[in-house]
Amino acid sequence: MARAVIAPSLLAADFGRLAEEARAVAAAGADWLHLDVMDGHFVPNISFGPLVVQALRRHASLPFDVHLMVAPVDPVIGAFAEAGADQITVHAEAGPHLHRSLQLVRSLGKRAGVAINPATPAEAVAPVLDLVDLVLVMTVNPGFGGQRFLDSQLPKIATLRRMIAACGRSVALEVDGGITAETAPRARAAGAEVLVAGTAIFAAPDYAAAIGALRGAADGGGARRS
Ligand code: DX5
Ligand code: ZN
Repeated sequence: MARAVIAPSLLAADFGRLAEEARAVAAAGADWLHLDVMDGHFVPNISFGPLVVQALRRHASLPFDVHLMVAPVDPVIGAFAEAGADQITVHAEAGPHLHRSLQLVRSLGKRAGVAINPATPAEAVAPVLDLVDLVLVMTVNPGFGGQRFLDSQLPKIATLRRMIAACGRSVALEVDGGITAETAPRARAAGAEVLVAGTAIFAAPDYAAAIGALRGAADGGGARRS
């Protein structure tokens, strides 16, 4: 498998210094920047909206991986596309028209992702696999950073890895929640290639060391490979 993609989640950053934090993780070797959008309705927390994403766009050239924990989601997809998202992930549980939401993301020229909560089976993704560039498996219940990784999700990650291999398209498999140097190898062994990490990076004193530790845990050896 290709080397792991490390996507720091800004949710765990200092919200008073978001631009500086985005630049810091980019300089520390992050591959993508993960932006968690929470609406206080689909999840019991509120984070930030498209204006913040747009403001950050000027400070970081990393791919913006926007994770929408929002329902209904269709009305806001356009605003995040305009704000500078490179990929937009919507939750399978966010409404009855997941297929339409993914079509909308694609019609705006963005990479489309589908996210599934811990209680949602891998099979929920099958009917839309032809529309997505990314599948995000929540390894905690969405809404908050700093929660414990759910090992119960590992078989689902492995199932999705097989489904993706069978579909013959290039689809990234991302895990989000409780990712640390201890849990990353388990997610990686199950087939995940994109590791979202909030607390494990932003609570660390040295972001480059934290990203290096995740990379080393995921891929072995600790060195960045190309
Ligand atoms: C949770 C978010 C995650 C979160 C991960 O709802 O989707 O991206 O920030 O945070 P950690 O890595 O602290 O579990
Ligand atoms: Zn997320």
